[in-house]
Amino acid sequence: MNKTGVLLLSHCGYSFMEELISNAAKHSLESFVLSSLPLPANSYRIQELQEKSAWLAVSENHALTWEDVEQVMQELAAQGYHIVCCLSVWEGYRTLMAKANQILGVADMEPAQVELLLNKYQLRQQLNQAGLSQVNSVLLDEHTWIDLQAKGKPAFIKPVTGIASYATFRLTTDKSWQDIEKIQSEIATDLIYSSIFSANRGFMAEDYIPGQEFSFEIIAVDGQPFVVAIHEKIEVDESGSAVLENACVAPPINLNESQLPKARAWIETIFQHLQLQWGCYHLEARCYNDHWEVIEINPRVGGALISPSVSILTQGVSMTQLWLNNLLYQTAEEQLQQKAQLAKFDLGTETYQQSPMSSYFRVYFAHAGRIRTIQQNICCLEPELVQVSLKSGTEVVETAREVFLGQVLWAIPQDKKNELLPKLITESRNTIQVDYE
Ligand SMILES: Nc1ncnc2c1ncn2[C@@H]1O[C@H](COP(=O)(O)OP(=O)(O)O)[C@@H](O)[C@H]1O
Ligand SMILES: [Mg+2]
Repeated sequence: MNKTGVLLLSHCGYSFMEELISNAAKHSLESFVLSSLPLPANSYRIQELQEKSAWLAVSENHALTWEDVEQVMQELAAQGYHIVCCLSVWEGYRTLMAKANQILGVADMEPAQVELLLNKYQLRQQLNQAGLSQVNSVLLDEHTWIDLQAKGKPAFIKPVTGIASYATFRLTTDKSWQDIEKIQSEIATDLIYSSIFSANRGFMAEDYIPGQEFSFEIIAVDGQPFVVAIHEKIEVDESGSAVLENACVAPPINLNESQLPKARAWIETIFQHLQLQWGCYHLEARCYNDHWEVIEINPRVGGALISPSVSILTQGVSMTQLWLNNLLYQTAEEQLQQKAQLAKFDLGTETYQQSPMSSYFRVYFAHAGRIRTIQQNICCLEPELVQVSLKSGTEVVETAREVFLGQVLWAIPQDKKNELLPKLITESRNTIQVDYE
C-alpha cells in the first residue's frame, strides 16, 4: 500500500471529507483522517470515514486540539506513513492546519496570520489604521451597547470570531444587551459550533456597511494573490438573528468592465498589506459607490457550493482542488505552472480568459418546526448538483445561526445567461420545497 498521503482534519465527522479524499486520490495520495468525535446521532460517520480513508483517528472530544494533531502526526510517522501536507476546511482548525504545515515544511499561512484574520475586531482595527477601511468598530459590553443604541448610527453586531452567520444582525432599537447574553448561552451549549467561539466569546459592533455583497475566492502563491472567482450575493436576507445568503452568481452581474480591475487592484493592496503569501481565501466584501469594504477574510475555501461553483467556471477544477495544489506544488517550476493556470481565471486582469459557463447556486435554509415533506421541483434549467441535508420528520429548533436544508447548483452557458438567469433566480426559490407540520 502507498504510505504517502494528506492529513485531513474533520470536524465531528464532516468538513467535505469525501471531496477532499477524492482530490487527494487524484494525486495518487492516500488520506489520513483525524476527526473530532461526531455527535451521537452521526456516529455512523466513523465507519464511513474508516472505509473511505487509509487511516483514521477520532479524538475524545467534539473539537480537535493541537495535542490531538501532534499525537497523530507522531503516530503516523511511527507507523511509517509520510504526510505531505495538512488540510482542513473547518475554520476552527485552520490554525492547527497552519501549525502542522509549518512542522512539515509546507509553505502555508503563518498560524499568527490565521489568528488575525479570524479575529474580526483586530482585523478591522488593522485595516482601519492602514487606511484600508473606513469602518469604525468597538468591542461590546453592556455599556458600549447602550452607548451605541443611544447614538442611533447604523451599526452591525457580530461575534469577534464566528462562522455560519451565527448572531450577525443590525443593531435596532428592539434589541437589547440581554439578547446577546441569551445568544452567548445558546452558543455555549452548541456542540458543533461552540469551539469556534471558545477562544473569544466576545461580540463587536461596527459601522453598518451598505452596498452589494461579493465574495472573492483567492489562491495566493508565493506572495501573489489570484482571484479565481467572484461570487455576487444576489439575495441576502437580513431579517433574522443571522444574515442569510440565499443565492449567488459568478461571474458577478453588477460589476462592470471598469469596476473589475479596480476591485482586483484593491484585493492586491489588502493582501500586500496583510502579507498573505500562501493559501486559499474566501474574502467577503461590499461595494457602495465604487468604495470597497471588507466584511471578513476567511482563511479557507468558501462554504455552501462555492467549491463546485468554481469548478463550473474553471471547467473542472474546484476550489478545494486548487487549494490542495497550492499545498502540494512547492517547487519553483510547479509554482510557475500553478500561477499560469490561476492567471487565466483571474478576473479583472489582462490574463483573464472568459469562462464559457456561469454558475448560479441557491441555498435553502430551514426554520423552526417539524418537517413534513421535502420535495424537489423542476425549473427552467436542469441543476448540476442537488444536495438535501435534512429529511422529513426532522425537528428544527429555533437558533441564531443559519440551518442548511439543502443547496442546488446550476451551470449556465454564457450565451443563454441573459435569458436564463432572471428566470432561474425566481423559479429556483421553489426548487426545494418544504412543508412543515
Ligand atoms: N458591518 C457590516 N455591515 C453590514 N452587514 C454586515 C456587516 N458585517 C457583516 N455583515 C453581514 O453579515 C454577514 C455575516 O457576517 P460575517 O462577518 O461574514 O460572519 P460569518 O463569519 O458568520 O460569515 C455578512 O455576509 C454580511 O452580509
Ligand atoms: Mg461571512
